[in-house]
Amino acid sequence: MLPLPHFDESSHEPIYRQLYAYIRGRILSGELAAGARIPPTRELAGQLGLNRATVASAYEMLESEGLIRGHVGRGSFVAAVAETAGIEWEERFTMVGASPRATAPAEAEISFTSARPAEDLFPINEFRQSCKEVIEGAEASAILQLGSPYGYAPLREWLLEQGRRQGLVRDTDDLLITSGCQQALDLLQRLLTQPGDSVLIEDPIYPGLRNVFARSDVRAAGVPVEADGIDVETLARRVEREKPRLLVVTPNFQNPTGATMPPAARAALLKVARDAGLIVVENDIYGDLRYEGAAIPPLKAMDESGDVIQIKSFSKLAFPGLRVGWVTGPRAVIARLAEWKQLSDLHSDQLSQAVLLRFAESGRLEAHRRRILETGAERLRAVIGACGRHLPPGTRFTRPQGGMNLWVRLPEPLDASELLGKARAAGVAYLPGRHFAVSRTDPGSLRLSFAGLPPDRIEAGLAALGRVFREELERALAAGIAGPAPAIV
Ligand SMILES: Cc1ncc(COP(=O)(O)O)c(C=O)c1O
Repeated sequence: MLPLPHFDESSHEPIYRQLYAYIRGRILSGELAAGARIPPTRELAGQLGLNRATVASAYEMLESEGLIRGHVGRGSFVAAVAETAGIEWEERFTMVGASPRATAPAEAEISFTSARPAEDLFPINEFRQSCKEVIEGAEASAILQLGSPYGYAPLREWLLEQGRRQGLVRDTDDLLITSGCQQALDLLQRLLTQPGDSVLIEDPIYPGLRNVFARSDVRAAGVPVEADGIDVETLARRVEREKPRLLVVTPNFQNPTGATMPPAARAALLKVARDAGLIVVENDIYGDLRYEGAAIPPLKAMDESGDVIQIKSFSKLAFPGLRVGWVTGPRAVIARLAEWKQLSDLHSDQLSQAVLLRFAESGRLEAHRRRILETGAERLRAVIGACGRHLPPGTRFTRPQGGMNLWVRLPEPLDASELLGKARAAGVAYLPGRHFAVSRTDPGSLRLSFAGLPPDRIEAGLAALGRVFREELERALAAGIAGPAPAIV
């Protein structure tokens, strides 16, 4: 039996890391021997008065280090620890603002876990052709030389021209090429916030954004996302209360919910921001993936102040492995961002940028976009139809018009984290809602990323998930269980 730990509430170290360090210490000291049973997350959370997600995060870290092993239906056990000598690395790592460790979701036959494009749709011959044209072209030597922190000039020009045509780029704007939206978020955090500041983000949210702020000791307060995207009335109240430095918002096909803000909500958001002098960062990474319905102007185009900063990337429409994204915003902001960019990695890889430009200028990107939109539309129809057919009565799910993700809320008492083990055993994986939580926890929620799967796999995956969820629901109802079923960790 594990003696209960005491937590230091005043510490910078988050509770889940304190819990992780506590159990780890007991294992390494031999107090918890190999084979000892670790209490299920629900039980320990109850004993410690913690949220289950906090305990689960600590267990995930222990499991990723090989210190404990989870067995479906039986709980977790201490693994045999190899003798180590030398530096205790965990003790040397900085703890200030440490963010949850990324753990790769376990493989499953049908995986709804990843919001990335389908590899089998990559137009590989057209891509090879673009590479060949760049490498054999007159610019090859210049591309191999060190370049500008702003990015490869011909691609920047192309993107600026596109932006002007779409009414996004105005005379006072400039553009910086980054290593994807992720680096854009990281640079914006460095430039615009300091430890102790407060920022507003959507709840639930893409964890890569939440963690950028967690790492830097910036308080990220969540604003709920509903069917129509971020809730602007709550946003206005949070702006009053938190006096945030900035807001990051994803108006199109938000990750993880798939929600899109209607034009009136966008206009209302811009008004709230303008009245409060709040910086708005528009993450439009999914904006090009509209499969149905009419396009809605981005915040950057609707904004009259000229202050909205927009980030985009080629990761969702084309090739995430090339790591090419960009930031468009007021010239002064871009100039300072370029300084941070230079400090971080001098500039993004020019060969990737040049190949993407060739891919775009040759018309291959447009042909690829049309194909992606066609297949995306089929997959979206398939996932919405299959959710309706297979998920148990009482389930709610979003109906996105584009993007890669759909958000499911299972009826009570189903718990998406607990059921993941059974789903995996049935050959299907998804990400439970807790991965995306800022402050609201919703145990019944989960994300289905559908863009990487053809319709027949989507159908088979949801049929299997439906069986797991229905069976569990029937079992819980028959047993008269009011709360969630025993933990599977
Ligand atoms: C909302 C959101 N922002 C940013 C990123 C990071 O994208 P990139 O590959 O452009 O760095 C992702 C990737 O999944 C995302 O979903």
